[in-house]
Amino acid sequence: AFSNTVAKAAGKLYFGTATDNSELTNTAYTAILDNNAYFGQLSPANSMKWDATEPEQGVFTFTGGDQIVALAKSNGQLMRGHNCVWYNQLPSWVSNGGFTEAELTTIIQNHCGTLVGHYKGEMYSWDVINEPFNDDGTWRSDVFYNTLGTSFVQIALEAASQADPSAKLYINDYNIEYAGPKATAMMNLVSSLKASGVPINGVGLQCHFIVGEVPTDLQTIMEQFTALDVEVAVTELDIRMTLPATDALLEQQKTDYQTVISACNAVEGCVGVTIWDFTDEYSWVPSTFSGQGDACPWDSNLVKKPAYDGIIIGFS
Ligand code: G3I
Repeated sequence: AFSNTVAKAAGKLYFGTATDNSELTNTAYTAILDNNAYFGQLSPANSMKWDATEPEQGVFTFTGGDQIVALAKSNGQLMRGHNCVWYNQLPSWVSNGGFTEAELTTIIQNHCGTLVGHYKGEMYSWDVINEPFNDDGTWRSDVFYNTLGTSFVQIALEAASQADPSAKLYINDYNIEYAGPKATAMMNLVSSLKASGVPINGVGLQCHFIVGEVPTDLQTIMEQFTALDVEVAVTELDIRMTLPATDALLEQQKTDYQTVISACNAVEGCVGVTIWDFTDEYSWVPSTFSGQGDACPWDSNLVKKPAYDGIIIGFS
């Protein structure tokens, strides 16, 4: 069975994966990536971020992003754009700050408008805002919030909406997959944007999880978000373990992938699931969490792990 085929049979729009430009020279890797029975959607892991797309003010480079969009098009895959406004991977001319409110407003409008406009008609969705909250539900202290307060969210969403009225506009975050102050903050933000008529179509649940620790209330949380009249998507799923992997850990990981997929499957407004690359070879996890890894459904030799079967069962 194939992961995207079963996702679509279950009524979802896609099962997809992140990928990065540097990986596309690996032909054994692209043979799997390009198979739209496995993946019906791609997310660029890095090449549409601010540092990659507007490294100097007003100087836009879309080479990396264009390569992934062209690939998705030739493979018959949807695209999720990632991302417009995020505190991380900013060029220093942005992160250094020192802007007036009016200056930063124009900078955000120009960045989001130009980026989203460049891909007009090519994107299923955009992560317009990425990771705006701290884990305690307060706003992250970054150049955007510190200069503009919460209004940067509306500024970016409106610019993105004008640039591509057909793309679904998302706010994407982690640690909102279970009840707590951060999920509550996100729900309150969505409610207030909706009440003010700001364009917001979706909430992305990143789902960077740990084996044996998948939140038990994931489905409930998805239902609470969709009750606010937004869709949800699992946008960056991976489930890491402390190495070395054992058979028991790999079996638990299979169960955990199944749990996440089943939650999306059970919620009508959950449109699809994206894994944050499909092979352990290219996972971001080991370089960030020392001693942890093996978070993906394919191992570093591109062999499917039990987790893959968990995905298939979850959609079935
Ligand atoms: O491009 C440079 C390259 O020139 C240099 O030689 C090399 C040496 O370290 O670094 C390269 O940049 C790296 C970049 O990935 C591209 O490979 C950065 O160091 C590295 O920090 C960066 O990591 C990315 C990370 O976001 C940054 O926060 C990961 O690939 C990417 O998967 C990860 O994705 C994020 C999502 O955007 C948001 N949610 C969390 C998720 C995981 O952290």
